Amino acid sequence: MSSKDGGQPFEGNTTEGSQREKIPVLIFDQPGQLSIQVAKRIASLITERRATGKKVVLGLPTGSTPIGVYQHLIDLHNEEGLDFSNVVTFNLDEYFPMKPDSLQSYHRFMHENFFDHVNIPKENIHIPNGDIPRENIEEYCLSYEHKIRKAGGLDLLVLGIGRSGHIGFNEPGSGIKTRTRLIILDEITKKDAASDFFGDENVPKEAITIGVGTILDAHEIILMATGEHKAPIVMKAVEEEPTDEITASFLQKHRDVTIYCDEAASGEFTRIKTPWVVKQVEWTEDLSVRAVIWLAEKVSKAILRLEEGDFQRHHLHSLTYTHENTDHLCKHVFESLRRRIRYAEDLPTKQEVIVFSPHPDDDVISMGGMLDSLVENKNDVTIAYMTNGSVAVFDSDVRRYIRFMEMAGGLFIDNDSVGSLHTKLTKLSKAMSTKPLGNVDALEVQQIKAFIRYSEAVAGIEVMRLGQEHARFLDMPFYKTGKVRKMPINDVDVQIVLSMLEEKMPEHIFVAGDLSDPHGTHRMCYFAIKRALIEFKKKYPDESKHPMVWLYRGAWQEWEIDRADVFLPMSKADLDRKIEAIFKHESQKDRAMYPGAYDIREFWERARDRNQGTASRLNGLGLPEFHAAEAYVCVKEL
Ligand code: F6R
Repeated sequence: MSSKDGGQPFEGNTTEGSQREKIPVLIFDQPGQLSIQVAKRIASLITERRATGKKVVLGLPTGSTPIGVYQHLIDLHNEEGLDFSNVVTFNLDEYFPMKPDSLQSYHRFMHENFFDHVNIPKENIHIPNGDIPRENIEEYCLSYEHKIRKAGGLDLLVLGIGRSGHIGFNEPGSGIKTRTRLIILDEITKKDAASDFFGDENVPKEAITIGVGTILDAHEIILMATGEHKAPIVMKAVEEEPTDEITASFLQKHRDVTIYCDEAASGEFTRIKTPWVVKQVEWTEDLSVRAVIWLAEKVSKAILRLEEGDFQRHHLHSLTYTHENTDHLCKHVFESLRRRIRYAEDLPTKQEVIVFSPHPDDDVISMGGMLDSLVENKNDVTIAYMTNGSVAVFDSDVRRYIRFMEMAGGLFIDNDSVGSLHTKLTKLSKAMSTKPLGNVDALEVQQIKAFIRYSEAVAGIEVMRLGQEHARFLDMPFYKTGKVRKMPINDVDVQIVLSMLEEKMPEHIFVAGDLSDPHGTHRMCYFAIKRALIEFKKKYPDESKHPMVWLYRGAWQEWEIDRADVFLPMSKADLDRKIEAIFKHESQKDRAMYPGAYDIREFWERARDRNQGTASRLNGLGLPEFHAAEAYVCVKEL
């Protein structure tokens, strides 16, 4: 890699098409591979230094991105005896105020995810302390800087990147020379942390972070970025001019920095998104379709109205040479898109279908139109709700149901039992009102929250003319931590999905194909289904028994037009019915616990905008005008 040659300033990536990138970037097919490579780099540095009797000073991040790296380092320690006794660590940041043993503290995170499992001497571990009096912060920060310098500086600093473009907690506006200090967290950072704190109103407003100057002093830097949600900010940090609006862009000034991205996070780089602009490309069918759609939208013309000159003015001459002429090419792409529009008669009919819904509302939010059509076509549809969704229910909803139970109890049970019901409910209310902010709910409260979500799910599918008997609540164990961070998928989770498949032997399954968040519930559900399908196919090698897999996307995004295999056209009445079903999820209505950053729209509004957006894009490309449309990707293998 060019950056490491003698510590010279980086003069450009040598990978074809990467000339706009001002920092070396490595792209990995899988986030798992990326973590392994970062862990290997750390391990080799530790071993090199040990050979010369030296210490190695590491700068370490928290967050969802580095968990895989820590896991791999622990494996190297346990399985290959990697010795950490010469390692000194400095963490980047900590919320303020924050007690070290709090659920959300970075002290706790680091111990649980790494330090407790390897042999770094306790005295070598440094994490900013979020539990000091405010008046001591300045002095404390100076001493943190001093300790880093005294240790010889950071040999290798591993970073994540926030969607605000922060590195450490250096939010927009942080200058290139900043040092360890107290900082006010950006709104987007607070929204992203909201899930760990059970709502953004509980996220601390401040944090202690090492500065941009401290970061740039490190000898070697690796920045890791995984997931589609990071793609726009990583592209800006790497391809645009350095600015304090995106502090990660200051890494362009460093001599030895490498960005490790997974495919999803690399999606906005010019060489990936519009490779024809920066290099000679080999025109595959998929890339041709993508380029023609891109061109049509860029010049605001329907595909069949594109002219030779449009291609020439937009670096696409070579594409026109792949076909007899431009007209031929445009007709070919147009036809390919037209065939993807599926009306009722082209959809499954009288078949066995399982819809796997990660949370209790993903089915109607993301595929309500399809569900409606599947029922219309007399398919035998089972909705398998994979998790109970309890962490996203507000306490106020539980209190409402407690009141309901107090009032309604007497209708069904005798006086003595009413008394004991009231005692139990009062105890529950008390437990809720005395629970410290940000702590996990009592088990009964989690259970009531799950029931609230289950009953909403049934009300939702009733709009689609499906009764309760079509709903199955898998209640997968990996989800049941009471917290947003989940346990890894284990064999029990996989077995639950496998049993469901064996019971129904479906011809079609619908799966949420959201791979953008490496630790999100949708992605974990996807992996549980993937593993279950592998087992299923081993048990039933006859291919005719293998279901067709339809991938839909979660509440946040839709498939890109060129990626989708199927578009389901929807009328106004279809969309209204879908929205009515989403309305049944009252606990998520008006204000959701996890709305996602910078999007104040409710889930039904997002579904409406997204489906109408797809329809209007198709129409803009010259296809028929629909009121709305859903998009799907179909695969045989996950
Ligand atoms: C955490 C830190 C932050 C995170 C960033 C990405 O110690 O300094 O800069 O690295 O917010 O967080 P995740 O990995 O959770 O997306």
